[in-house]
Amino acid sequence: MEFRFEVKARDAAGRIGKLIVNGKSIETPAIMPVINPKQLIVTPKELKEMGFGMIITNSYIIYKTPELREKALKLGIHKLLDYDGIIEVDSGSFQLMRYGEVEVTNREIIEFQEKIGVDIGTFLDIPTPPDAPREKAEEDLRITLERAKEAESIKNIAMNAAVQGSTYPDLRTYAARELSKMNFEIHPIGAVVPLMESYRYRDLVDVVVASKLGLRPNRPVHLFGAGHPMIFALAVAMGVDLFDSASYALYAKDDRYLTPEGTKRLEELEYFPCSCPVCSRYTPQELREMPKEERTRLLAIHNLWVIREELNRVKQAIKEGELWRLVDERARSHPKLYSAYKRLLEYRDYLEKNEPITKASAFFKVSEEAMRWPIVYRAKERAERVAKKFPEKVKHPIFGEIPKYLSLSYPFAQSEGEEDFTIEKPRKGEARKYVMAVAEYQFGEKAGEAFKDAFVELSRKTGMPRQVKAKGKHLATFRAEDGLLTLGIEGAKRLHALLPFPKMRVVVNEDAEPFAKRGKNVFAKFVVDADPSIRPYDEVLVVNEKDELLATGQTLLNGEELKVFQSGLAVKVRRGVEK
Ligand code: GUN
Ligand code: ZN
Repeated sequence: MEFRFEVKARDAAGRIGKLIVNGKSIETPAIMPVINPKQLIVTPKELKEMGFGMIITNSYIIYKTPELREKALKLGIHKLLDYDGIIEVDSGSFQLMRYGEVEVTNREIIEFQEKIGVDIGTFLDIPTPPDAPREKAEEDLRITLERAKEAESIKNIAMNAAVQGSTYPDLRTYAARELSKMNFEIHPIGAVVPLMESYRYRDLVDVVVASKLGLRPNRPVHLFGAGHPMIFALAVAMGVDLFDSASYALYAKDDRYLTPEGTKRLEELEYFPCSCPVCSRYTPQELREMPKEERTRLLAIHNLWVIREELNRVKQAIKEGELWRLVDERARSHPKLYSAYKRLLEYRDYLEKNEPITKASAFFKVSEEAMRWPIVYRAKERAERVAKKFPEKVKHPIFGEIPKYLSLSYPFAQSEGEEDFTIEKPRKGEARKYVMAVAEYQFGEKAGEAFKDAFVELSRKTGMPRQVKAKGKHLATFRAEDGLLTLGIEGAKRLHALLPFPKMRVVVNEDAEPFAKRGKNVFAKFVVDADPSIRPYDEVLVVNEKDELLATGQTLLNGEELKVFQSGLAVKVRRGVEK
């Protein structure tokens, strides 16, 4: 069994990742269309051609249907479905929730999943619905955790371990912690379909964040049964990596048409707000006049295009550092979504830990809520600290009074509000203070001292600080894009000498040492420890277990993630001590 998950880029608590299962790989966030093996509206092969590299079906339905079962056992599930992408299966848990019972044991369904050759299985967790009595939620969870233990001891395939606990945040966190200690590959968040069906998105936020708080951050998270594009941005911003959707087909059967802002009924549409192959070819009227079966298929295909398009929009937003803006925009589509968005913003510590230090795009103050985004309170808190040493202030139209020497740096200079902020170039002899203040802002208290004798070259073209040097050596670069510092090896040495362990440190084992020293990238599996206050895209100091400096570079992971990730890049090394 092969299973790996790596982070490639991130924004808010969301991430673009790469999931590799049994030689097949997909990019996350991703959605698995749900396949009903008894009724294919769109074939798995067609789904693959539309770009869906992973699908989900139900092993319990196959198990219970003699023809399917025999064929699956004989040919394997990939042949049965004629699909060569990643196949995940559910276990019958959902049927358990809907109908109260299933005719299979936990062990039987796991063994069956393995026999038919699935890529990712699911054990028979018990989905406790929202608002269940506390005792019921606890008892169900006890059984789910028992079954998890059993699954762990017999499984030879990658497996989902769903977080349950109804609407009790403490139970969700507890379940997540317990499952994280065990050997599982993916953690779905279970029993949330009833919340989504009744638009209880605010409660959904509480459930998801409570679960995320207990989960190992290196495992992908699947929001079980979530497939409506209107919640993708919010869910990804919370840290969800995988979705599954039966809705594309179920809604189509019911003449419902998905949009990223909500669901429309075909009968209410005079125009299609979409240009997918279906919507460019037909008018709503033409679709209405078609035979039911053809219409259902075409609506399902439109629904799939919309799902794909919204996921791409979310991924592009992550790349650009604009995910919060997209969440804010989507939140305007429905009051319940707006309420959920505001709720999410209350989880300040969770969000701040995951929020990148810098972004490709300027901060756009698009709403009042934007002032509660994590980069804003982080910037204000850090600026307050810096102001104690650098009390000179300037007035900023969005942030109020800010330390003058931070006025070139993210997000203060890279921001857009209703009024413009006029950036003043450093006056002669002042540039060093900018560098020192930014160092304190970026690396913490005392860090400014590393640059107290620095000479700062100003750009001839723009007058802005550029190279930071001392005694003929390059210490750092003041970045043009975000006014933050990129460390040179001499600057890293000074910070290493000045700041006590574990500040800014990423500790690697001896296997990685020679590579890091020579300026090669550091991979997550070599990291043994890290400063918990490191944030994504921070500049860090790579050290060995004796705290000797090896290199400096930029990390993709925060301090907690650095300690647990086992695959993918950890630090993009810019300079090693030897090269
Ligand atoms: N499908 C939708 N919700 C659930 C859940 O909680 N558990 C499982 N196994 N499948 C689901
Ligand atoms: Zn369309």
